Amino acid sequence: MRFQRLLQLRKYATVATLRQSTHIRTHTHAHTPTMVRTLASSTSPLPELTQITDNVQRGNYAQLNDKDVSHFTQLLGKNHVLTDDLDGYNICFLKRIRGNSKLVLKPGNTEELAAIMKHCNQRKLAVVPQGGNTGLVGGSVPICDEIVISLQRMNKVLSVDEVTGIAVVEAGCILENFSQRAHDVGLTVPLDLGAKASCHIGGNVSTNAGGIRVLRYGNLHGTVLGVEAVLANGQVLDLMSNFKKDNTGYHMKNLFIGSEGTLGIITKLSMLCPHESKAVNVAFIGLNSFDDVLKTFVSAKRNLGEILSSCELIDERALNMALSQFKFLNSPISGYPFYMLIETSGSNATHDEEKLNKFISLGMEREEILDGTVTGDPGKMQEIWKLREMVPLGLIENSFCFKYDISLPLRDFYSIVDVMRERCGPLATVVCGYGHLGDSNLHLNVNCERFNDDIYKRVEPFVYEYTSKLKGSISAEHGIGFLKKDYLHYSKNPVAIDWMRDMKKMFDPNGILNPYKMLA
Ligand code: FAD
Ligand code: MLT
Ligand code: ZN
Repeated sequence: MRFQRLLQLRKYATVATLRQSTHIRTHTHAHTPTMVRTLASSTSPLPELTQITDNVQRGNYAQLNDKDVSHFTQLLGKNHVLTDDLDGYNICFLKRIRGNSKLVLKPGNTEELAAIMKHCNQRKLAVVPQGGNTGLVGGSVPICDEIVISLQRMNKVLSVDEVTGIAVVEAGCILENFSQRAHDVGLTVPLDLGAKASCHIGGNVSTNAGGIRVLRYGNLHGTVLGVEAVLANGQVLDLMSNFKKDNTGYHMKNLFIGSEGTLGIITKLSMLCPHESKAVNVAFIGLNSFDDVLKTFVSAKRNLGEILSSCELIDERALNMALSQFKFLNSPISGYPFYMLIETSGSNATHDEEKLNKFISLGMEREEILDGTVTGDPGKMQEIWKLREMVPLGLIENSFCFKYDISLPLRDFYSIVDVMRERCGPLATVVCGYGHLGDSNLHLNVNCERFNDDIYKRVEPFVYEYTSKLKGSISAEHGIGFLKKDYLHYSKNPVAIDWMRDMKKMFDPNGILNPYKMLA
C-alpha cells in the first residue's frame, strides 16, 4: 500500500531518474500575464465612487485647473498627460475602490517627477503614486480626485552585475522583466509573486511585498540595498548604495520600504540578487489535517534545511475554486483537505534529491504525507506553481472576495478559517485559507456573489480583533492602504502611530502624498 502510494507520489517524475537538470530557469515560475491584465481591465460593471460609498470628506487640497494641465503638458509632452479613459487608473485590482481622478501623469525620469512634485506641493494638489495597480488594499488608486502619477515609463533595468549580484533598476520596471534580465546573467531576483507580470519593482518595494521567496531570501529590508525617492516638495533623496553593509547613521532607505507612497515616490533602487540555484525540485503533497501540515513543515525545515526555498499551503476549498474557474489547471492529486507546495533549490542535484526523497519517505511512513507528486522538470514545476498562483484569481473571477492577509503564530495559523466559516454560515459561498506557511502568513478569503454588508459586518473588525489577540499582524504583506486604515491600531500601539504621523508630517507637511490611506 505504502509502496503504491510512493509510486503515485512520483507520478510526474522521480526526482532521481527523470530530472532534466541541464538548465532550469529557476524562480521564474508559471505566470499568467494575460490573466492578470485581463482581470484588471475586464468589462464588468464599474464600482461606485468610493468617496460616496465611504462618505470620504475631501481634504483641503486645491482643485486642478487648466493652467496646471498646461504646465504638466509643457513639462512632459502631451502624450504623457492623460485626461481621458482613466478607469484603469481609477479602479483598484479587486474592483472595490474607485476614485475620480481627472489626470494621469507619466514622468519619464526623476527630474520630470521632481518638477511635478514641486508644482503639486506649491499648489497643494494631492497625488497618488501608481505602479502596476495590482495592490490589494486600495492604496494605488485615488479616493477623491488625486492626480495619478504612474511610474510606467520609468521602466529600465540600469545595470545587473554578475560578479557582485547587484542590480540597479528604475521603479516602474515590471517585476517579471527585471527577473528575466537577472536570469540572463545567472542571477535571481529575491522576490516572486503571482502578480509579477504586472506589478512594478517600485510598487513591490513601496508595499514591502512578500510572496513566495521570503522564506529563502528574507524580506526586502535586507535585499534592497538603496533607493532614490522624490519627496513631496520635489527634492530628490539619494539613498542609493551598492553595499550590504553601511552603518552611516539612520537606515533611511528602510523608511521607504513599505511606506506605500505616503513618504515619497521611489524612482530607482539597487537590489542584491543571489546567484540562481542549479537544482530545483517541487513537491505537491496532500495531507489530512492542519496538524499534519505543521509536522510536515517542521520536518521540511529539519530534513531539507538550507535547500528549502518555499513552503506554501492551499486548503481544499481554495484549490477547488481555482480548478473550477480555470479549466486549463490540472492538479496531480485531489480529495485532500490540505495541500502543500514545497520547493527546494540547491547547487548539487544528487545531494538535493537524496534529501527530498528522505523527507518524503519519512512523511509517508508517518502517514503525514498521504499522496503527491515530486518533479524537477521545469514544465511540470510550472504547472504546479500555477495551481498556487491562480488561487487568488480563482477567488475573484466570478465572485466578490473579502481578502485578509495576516501573520499568525503557526500553532494558531489555520483555526481562524474554521471560526470564520462558522461565523459567516450560508452567507458566504466559500471561506478558505492559503498562503505562505513558511512565513506564518495566512491569506484568509471570504467569498460571496457580490459585496454584502451582512458578511462584511460579520468579518470585520472580528478578523482584526482575533489577529490582535494572538499578537499577529493585520497585514503580513499587502499593506494598509485604504481598506485597512481604520484598523492599524490592532497592530500598532498609539505611541507608534503618533510617531508615524509625525514622520508623515515631516516628510509631507501638506499631506499631498497618497492621502486617505494608511494613517488617514
Ligand atoms: P501598486 O498596486 O500600483 O501600488 C501599491 C502601493 O504602492 C500604493 O500605495 C502605491 O501608491 C504605492 N506605490 C507604487 N509604486 C510606487 C513608487 N514607485 N513609489 C512610491 N509608492 C509607490 N503581494 C504580496 O506581498 N505577496 C504576494 O504574494 C502577492 N501576490 C499577489 C498576487 C496577485 C494575483 C495579485 C493581484 C496581487 C498580489 N500581491 C501580492 C499584491 C500586489 O501585487 C503587491 O502589493 C505589489 O507589490 C504591488 O505592486 P504594484 O506595482 O502593482 O503597486
Ligand atoms: C498570494 O499569496 O497569492 C497573494 O498575496 C494574493 C492573495 O492574497 O490572494
Ligand atoms: Zn501572498
